[in-house]
Amino acid sequence: MTTLKLSSLLVIFTFLFACQPQKKSDEQPLVSSPFKITTTNFGVLPEGDSVTKYTFANSNGLEVSIINYGGIVTNINFPDTSGKVEDLVLGFDHLEGYLKESPYFGAIVGRYGNRIAQGKFTLNGQAYNLATNNNKNHLHGGLKGFDKVLWDATPFESADGAGLKLHYLSKDMEEGYPGNLDVNVTYTIKNDNTIEIDYKATTDKPTIVNLTQHSYFNLTGDVKRDILNHEVMILADSLIPVDAGLIPTGEMMSVTETPFDFRQVTPVGDRIDEQDEQLSLGGGYDHCWVLDKTTPNALEWVVKAMDPESGRVFELATTEPGVQFYSGNFLDGSITGKYKTAYQHRYGLCFEPEHFPDSPNQANFPSVVLNPDEEYHTTTVWRFSIVE
Ligand code: BGC
Repeated sequence: MTTLKLSSLLVIFTFLFACQPQKKSDEQPLVSSPFKITTTNFGVLPEGDSVTKYTFANSNGLEVSIINYGGIVTNINFPDTSGKVEDLVLGFDHLEGYLKESPYFGAIVGRYGNRIAQGKFTLNGQAYNLATNNNKNHLHGGLKGFDKVLWDATPFESADGAGLKLHYLSKDMEEGYPGNLDVNVTYTIKNDNTIEIDYKATTDKPTIVNLTQHSYFNLTGDVKRDILNHEVMILADSLIPVDAGLIPTGEMMSVTETPFDFRQVTPVGDRIDEQDEQLSLGGGYDHCWVLDKTTPNALEWVVKAMDPESGRVFELATTEPGVQFYSGNFLDGSITGKYKTAYQHRYGLCFEPEHFPDSPNQANFPSVVLNPDEEYHTTTVWRFSIVE
């Protein structure tokens, strides 16, 4: 009897033990994550909502901070050739700067990146008047664009990378745009030192959309001087000439034998002060280049910038047909940003992948119309490296 009991107890015990979760091996991930995510408070908006800063570090020296206000990239820390880690983007140490005086530093721009003449357009026979905020024109989404709203933010980590999923519902007629626009922007920081920005949107009424990202880069690190020494390449045979209000004339202009030819790597400062009608209208470079894509919507590497002193290299791939290269011409020292630095003339450069400016009023430009049965989806990738 006792022997039987004992042996059955032993069987039950062995069975129960075998069923126990193998704690040790389950709790230890097979491969430890190469990413570190930290979350800090970045202040409070006048309406009372808290703003959070999410920092993502990979194991190859790239550290990126993003806030849920405006989806703003506040810092990109990356080493130079000697290993010195410094910040490569313009911005502010505190939320107040972004609320008060930011010329779209690091922000997500929408619903329409770039200008729409007089803020007017017609869609399916219906005329719309958008908010005007730039010499009677509409710029970067209007008075309160996507750069000035609080996004729902969810940090994540996947096999692919770590990052932030941002969501914003832009209500019907916000800033004058028709349709409830449901927007998802995902930043993914990867271990190969790339940052992917993926934009998706859907609408319940026909509308227009042209989202972009407005980081000002200065690869010298911690913004030591202007960007005129940066060597830039843009794979584009033509660009979109503009009028005095920086509104497209509707033509395309060949870059051949102009200061706009960046098909070969050229320092920004080499030709920026030449006598040239388009340069004087832009106050320097402030134009949309028409990218040479092998396939219109393919993700292709089209822009490169390199700072010869630090050896830092920035590259950009996009699915978009154009890129606005803005050489920070409106910076004039009146804004003091991070590290107590006054941002002087041309202290930062922007590469804003986008559809062409004023597309809703230009029949020959690729369409920016989004209909209820469609999904808007574009992708841009930034890659950081050091010259060999
Ligand atoms: C525009 C500039 C403008 C800047 C900041 C750029 O995208 O092209 O003209 O000054 O944004 O608003």
